[in-house]
Amino acid sequence: MKVGTVTEIKKHEYRVGLTPNSAKAFIDHGHAVYIQKGAGEGSGYQDDMYEQAGCILQDTAKEVFDTCDMIVKVKEPLEPEYRLIRENQIIYTYLHLAADKALTDAMLESKCIGIAFETIKGRNGGLPCLKPMSQIAGRLSVQEGAKYLEKPFGGRGVLLAGVPGVERAKVVVLGAGIVGTSAIKIAAGMGAEVTVLDINLDRLEYLEDIYQGRINTVFSTPQHIQECLADADLVIGAVLIPGAAAPKLIKREYLKNMKKGAVIVDVAIDQGGCSEVSHVTYHDDPVYVTEGVVCYCVGNMPGAVSNTSTNALNNAILNYGLHIADKGAETALKEDAGLLEGLNIYKGKLTYRAVAEVYGLEFTDARACI
Ligand SMILES: NC(=O)c1ccc[n+]([C@@H]2O[C@H](COP(=O)([O-])OP(=O)(O)OC[C@H]3O[C@@H](n4cnc5c(N)ncnc54)[C@H](O)[C@@H]3O)[C@@H](O)[C@H]2O)c1
Repeated sequence: MKVGTVTEIKKHEYRVGLTPNSAKAFIDHGHAVYIQKGAGEGSGYQDDMYEQAGCILQDTAKEVFDTCDMIVKVKEPLEPEYRLIRENQIIYTYLHLAADKALTDAMLESKCIGIAFETIKGRNGGLPCLKPMSQIAGRLSVQEGAKYLEKPFGGRGVLLAGVPGVERAKVVVLGAGIVGTSAIKIAAGMGAEVTVLDINLDRLEYLEDIYQGRINTVFSTPQHIQECLADADLVIGAVLIPGAAAPKLIKREYLKNMKKGAVIVDVAIDQGGCSEVSHVTYHDDPVYVTEGVVCYCVGNMPGAVSNTSTNALNNAILNYGLHIADKGAETALKEDAGLLEGLNIYKGKLTYRAVAEVYGLEFTDARACI
């Protein structure tokens, strides 16, 4: 199969679909890999590294799309890319179709095969191609929060770890899932006093066991959230209700009782945010101040650490990608029920029920297509 990767064109997106190592894995499996010149630069991979791996470099995205049977990307195709997608071509990337009707229409019209990273299911459940990005966002949330707590960045001038004789910063994590657990690991590791709230008692029990009393676990109620926020230096919003917008757990009025210069990192912003005052920001201007509280609401946090994110993403998507290239899309999808969950578009048919429901479009069972 001819496999290709293009430069991402979304604002401040520096990740790339294939690292030179992953490209080499495809080549070792007998496939040819085409890379748009410069595609890996934002992640620290120069063209000569791809050449050494045995890839063929091409000047434009159009050439790569015209040449290849499968395109491995990171972000959903944007408008200038719609017309490049060809009939029967496999588009293997994050798609998030439920958030983008124009893309859904373009993918259907192109008659391509759209396999979305975010809906592929792992053997033990879970979403293996989404998980690494949540782990990164969770870890990064504390790093970013620590920075914006510094006075020159607008925060209240507090060091997470404190020092002997001066108390540690208080970090409150809302949601004890993958993002929350990753944030706790870093915050506790940096010496902060951590409190986590969740409605899932099993998650709280698990964390209580692991940390052996070194963090506080609190059942999430509006009253408890309000109390914890009033005392917090850094708040990490990490809640998720699958398939729904994030619940607005942080009310505007709670901010009035928070310390001036405290920081909220609303990681759940990609699902609308879990604070009433959250609105999307970008890496070039990530924070704003509301009611004296510094709010960080970047929707694609992993993009900031593009080298780590590209590698973590490649670890998650490579084996599925090789399976598709080795067997062809239909056989690979037939052989792996979890991969089949990733099939959102098949040659003009919408094969992901939740997306069809959002737009009132006709749904076709993926199993009937292949
Ligand atoms: N901004 C970014 O760059 C970025 C990157 C990755 C993930 N995310 C987002 O981060 C959020 C969390 O993702 P995740 O992978 O950790 O999800 P997850 O499903 O693993 O965890 C979510 C947790 O929220 C808890 N929760 C639900 N309602 C709650 C409530 N009322 N109070 C307290 N806890 C509650 C759940 O019980 C669960 O433990 C999602 O919105 C995800 O889309 C954002």
